[in-house]
Amino acid sequence: MPPATPAAPRVPSAAAPDTGSGHPPVTVRAPEPAEGADMWRLARDSGALDLNTSYAYLLLARDFARTCRVAVVDGEVVGFLLGYRRPEEPSTLFVWQVAVDPAQRGRRLAARLLADAAAGAGFVEASITADNTASQRLFESFAAERGAPLVRSELFAAADFPDAGHETEGLVRIGPLEPIES
Ligand SMILES: CC(C)(COP(=O)(O)OP(=O)(O)OC[C@H]1O[C@@H](n2cnc3c(N)ncnc32)[C@H](O)[C@@H]1OP(=O)(O)O)[C@@H](O)C(=O)NCCC(=O)NCCS
Repeated sequence: MPPATPAAPRVPSAAAPDTGSGHPPVTVRAPEPAEGADMWRLARDSGALDLNTSYAYLLLARDFARTCRVAVVDGEVVGFLLGYRRPEEPSTLFVWQVAVDPAQRGRRLAARLLADAAAGAGFVEASITADNTASQRLFESFAAERGAPLVRSELFAAADFPDAGHETEGLVRIGPLEPIES
């Protein structure tokens, strides 16, 4: 019997290996199902993300591997991106969470995760809180690199959340994205 879910694509490192930085090379690829556990740990330790259940990360790594990414250094998952194509608008990649191990930040790992996950998408959306400068910059930089407009709106108001303490979630929408020539 063939597997119910097609194998996740093996995305070669989008990256050019680090040259001269002294950093070990990074591979960016679709996650293996069990790597949902690594995503959960990174989200837990990120200091900024709402932590979903470990079950949610395992399911996403299994069922949405084609639109999720991990960054791997020396065999260790040091960054992840959770994303999915919106069912009613499949050309749009919705980026739910991105996190990079604090020790690996500032090396453009998040930029590479995003660029790789967004390959082939017509639009990218992400929900960002206003005070998350790093996240704001990540998406602004992506839009600038792709020469695409970035439009901000509100996704969910604080009052939409049933549990206390949630901030308003802003939406950034980037696109239309021109196909990248390979
Ligand atoms: C947001 C996060 C994923 C960025 O990861 P990263 O690998 O360090 O980011 P990159 O090195 O790819 O940087 C991408 C862009 O963001 C900018 N940036 C990254 N961190 C920044 C910071 N703390 N302050 C300002 N700009 C920042 C970079 O300068 C770069 O912009 P540029 O192309 O104009 O130079 C990381 O800080 C993180 O894990 N934060 C905690 C989780 C989180 O907040 N996730 C986002 C919400 S889903």
